[in-house]
Amino acid sequence: MKVLTFLSQKGGSGKTTLVVHAAVAAHEAGHRVVVIDTDPQKSAAGWSEAREAEEPQVIPVAPLELAEVLKAARADKMDFTIIDTAPHAAPEAARIARASDFVAIPVRPTAFDLAAAGSAAAIVKAAKVKAGFVLSACPFRAPEIADTRAVLAEYGLPVAPAEITDRRAFSRAIATGRAVTEFESDGKAAEEIRALWAWLKEQAR
Ligand SMILES: Nc1ncnc2c1ncn2[C@@H]1O[C@H](COP(=O)(O)OP(=O)(O)OP(=O)(O)O)[C@@H](O)[C@H]1O
Ligand SMILES: [Mg+2]
Repeated sequence: MKVLTFLSQKGGSGKTTLVVHAAVAAHEAGHRVVVIDTDPQKSAAGWSEAREAEEPQVIPVAPLELAEVLKAARADKMDFTIIDTAPHAAPEAARIARASDFVAIPVRPTAFDLAAAGSAAAIVKAAKVKAGFVLSACPFRAPEIADTRAVLAEYGLPVAPAEITDRRAFSRAIATGRAVTEFESDGKAAEEIRALWAWLKEQAR
């Protein structure tokens, strides 16, 4: 089983959106996947409650219970566990990072998000875990995307080639307990998510 965590100290960077979309993409690709929601805000769990489909399962877990729940997921023969995290939770974030095979750090191409990227990079480096950045909620074809890639490259971590565009389909999906691949399977948003999942899966190997 591979453990994939989305982590960033910046609120609203897109962690929960990417967690549930990665989980649905993994499920659609035929993998056994479970989501662990360690954020006390319980946004991923809320998405799951609004959802009609049973899969992927979302389990709310306090960070201290993480090891036990991961053990259970391994015993259940899950292929992937995908972890959502809270912003501003440094000691917990470090613990969760150490339990992961790969940490994805979502970054919006804005100055505020870029300023926060350094603290996430420091956490994953201290945890000695494989990690990389994902460009999240990018304005369509904006020059800021290339600028952000250039700045992120300086941290010495890979940046996912597939960037996620700011699209209404993503916020609609979250609000209705679905994923973009489920209501617009041949749309651009779904294409971006499948490309991102292909990259994440390779990174977590
Ligand atoms: N690619 C996108 N396109 C459009 N809206 C997006 C996209 N990604 C995220 N959003 C919206 O931005 C907001 C924040 O996203 P999300 O909740 O995924 O971030 P988060 O990092 O989990 O936030 P928090 O730190 O509060 O948990 C939500 O309203 C979400 O719908
Ligand atoms: Mg969240």
